[in-house]
Amino acid sequence: MDKRGPIGFFDSGLGGISVLKGTMELLPGEDYLYFGDSLNAPYGVRTVDEVRQLSLAAAEHLLEKGTKALVIACNTATSAAAAVLRQKYPQLTIIGTEPAIKPAVQACPGGRILVLATAMTLQEQKYLDLWEQFRELANIVPVPCTGLMEFVERGILSGDEVESFLLEILEPFTKVPVDAVVLGCTHYPFLKGTLRKILGKAPAIFDSADGVARQLRRRLEDQGLLRGRETGGTVVFENSSCDESLLRLSQKLLETE
Ligand code: DGL
Repeated sequence: MDKRGPIGFFDSGLGGISVLKGTMELLPGEDYLYFGDSLNAPYGVRTVDEVRQLSLAAAEHLLEKGTKALVIACNTATSAAAAVLRQKYPQLTIIGTEPAIKPAVQACPGGRILVLATAMTLQEQKYLDLWEQFRELANIVPVPCTGLMEFVERGILSGDEVESFLLEILEPFTKVPVDAVVLGCTHYPFLKGTLRKILGKAPAIFDSADGVARQLRRRLEDQGLLRGRETGGTVVFENSSCDESLLRLSQKLLETE
């Protein structure tokens, strides 16, 4: 594996850019190649088998471009396809994304924790295992958010439309106080401002970017694949859709605070 190769990221669309941002902060000396599969988004409403096939195709595409490590920057694809990807590429460093339930439980033991994610993520084994592991330490409440990622894909991060959509989803869950919210889909960190408006200041909000970045650094270090600070730092965006505006939106999301 060539140390100078880029780190490949993929997601069903642009959400994984929230994970890319976290990784770039921790590993500024690497080069990055981000593949957004917006043409086939959303993954969350597809069958598990479809998400597996799409994930295998995305990984193959990134590997053809010399990717030295793969980040599945999507909770849904991780749930459905991490195992098959690891089986197909046993030598490759593959980092998946899972809901940050552990840090949320550690910060709010005994608390009421909402996990916002796609219906598929919340039905798959990865989530069920996490729930099993932590269910006695906190009240973990799954909240499927079908239709929410589409706002980010359209570049709508705030405003009446997304606010009332989110309000409708969250209303049944916010009648009782909430201690923490886990963003179990990589699109949702871009909606943090709108979420805050609805949830108020109190609940802590957790996403997976930091955990993924740290795990990736550890694995690259172990394998002697980590680059120094003096090199790299480039990002290339690719998208399965031929809509050029998605590449501009990708860059904009990367620069979003
Ligand atoms: N960004 C994806 C995730 O983290 C999913 C959105 C979708 O394609 O449904 O789960």
